[in-house]
Amino acid sequence: MMSMENKKTQKNENSIMNILLIGSGGREHAIAWKLSQSPLTTHLYIAPGNAGTSDIGENLPISVTDFVGMKQAALEKKIDMVVVGPEAPLVAGVTDYFKNDPQLAHIAVIGPSKKGAQMEGSKDFSKKFMMRHGIPTAGYLSVTAENKEEGIAFLKTHKAPYVLKADGLAAGKGVLILNKLDDALRELDEMLSGKFGEASATVLIEEFLSGIECSVFALTDGKDYKILPVAKDYKRIGEGDKGLNTGGMGSVSPVSFADETFMRKVEDRIVRPTIEGLREDDIDYKGFLFFGLINVDGEPYTIEYNARMGDPETEVVMLRIKSDLVALLQGVANGNLASCTLEEDPRYAVTVMLVSGGYPEAYEKGKEITGLREVKDSIVFHAGTKQKNGRIVTDGGRVIALSSYGKTKEEALQLSFESARTIQYEGKYFRRDIGFDLK
Ligand code: AMP
Ligand code: GLY
Repeated sequence: MMSMENKKTQKNENSIMNILLIGSGGREHAIAWKLSQSPLTTHLYIAPGNAGTSDIGENLPISVTDFVGMKQAALEKKIDMVVVGPEAPLVAGVTDYFKNDPQLAHIAVIGPSKKGAQMEGSKDFSKKFMMRHGIPTAGYLSVTAENKEEGIAFLKTHKAPYVLKADGLAAGKGVLILNKLDDALRELDEMLSGKFGEASATVLIEEFLSGIECSVFALTDGKDYKILPVAKDYKRIGEGDKGLNTGGMGSVSPVSFADETFMRKVEDRIVRPTIEGLREDDIDYKGFLFFGLINVDGEPYTIEYNARMGDPETEVVMLRIKSDLVALLQGVANGNLASCTLEEDPRYAVTVMLVSGGYPEAYEKGKEITGLREVKDSIVFHAGTKQKNGRIVTDGGRVIALSSYGKTKEEALQLSFESARTIQYEGKYFRRDIGFDLK
């Protein structure tokens, strides 16, 4: 029999949980914030992180696709779990890299295999998946240089607006919605001729769906799933959803139209068939799965899948998860997610993003940010910041995400707007109408 002391040591050893989180945006700061609250977390490392994550964990200067650097850190820091924030390392195969290396294979990686990440990495792959598994989505045709004529004919049979999508990752710029047939034909030609490089060697022409969008997230261990709080993001730079697309100017959760009836349809027609489809197709998927949905007269359709959480949706979703996120991620790693509980916070959560002047076009970096410590009623997530000579300066287009709780959406928004006024830097801009289209 083990002595008491030994038992104690054993227990402590078992409960050590060193986590390495990959990424550097507001999404990762929000995930880090939630992970750091767990009594299960021993040490939290973020690679490469930002000026905000360094307050709650240790930043490591490793880029998100530097697998060799990650390996070194994982061994040195005795990492037990890797949580992958952005899509790039997933699409590049970080999960397979860990799984296939005997020194790393014991480490749980939260994020799908390279094949699973194709759900985001290739729109042709994910559309075929949706068709094969009967998941509601827009009708489409995949076009390459070989069947370009068919593509032209397909466009001509449709009415405006025309939807063209580059098959591969194109830094969020690969989707074009055009109002004139001539423009659509010209763009199709340019895309196939390499407008987005290899990413647009295949182009999808899609039927246009008209409705309001929302973001649904599931956490899956490959067998079971938990649906996380539903959110909506605001992508355009201008108020009233006008102007250029951005990485996201704000988000809210819950979403008024995504009520119980709608969410039941989402689960029955989209989430469950997707998780079952991944299993049937023998696609290894353990991690977050993001369903970009559109509500067309009360019926949900899938616009896209992403192999990760959304940004800035994560900055509200994390606020609304009451349960221990590390316990849930352990459920994912151990394949017993079904026995975990996911409790939601009933309050509203909103995020208002502060961005750099000029964004999403050219903007300057390195502007000193003041007032961060004076924010009282919001949670400050850093998106694009860094430390410079003991000061915090802007280091990206999206700078700070201000997340707040409220009994109502309006109450939460007032707090984020107040915090937005407290923080100062040259060129600060934010949208004052986040959530404007929801009840
Ligand atoms: P995606 O990268 O596939 O999410 O597309 C980017 C954005 O384009 C979406 O968030 C939608 O606003 C819009 N979009 C994509 N596909 C369609 C479609 N079939 N019908 C209408 N809008 C679409
Ligand atoms: N907010 C949308 C995304 O992260 O893709």
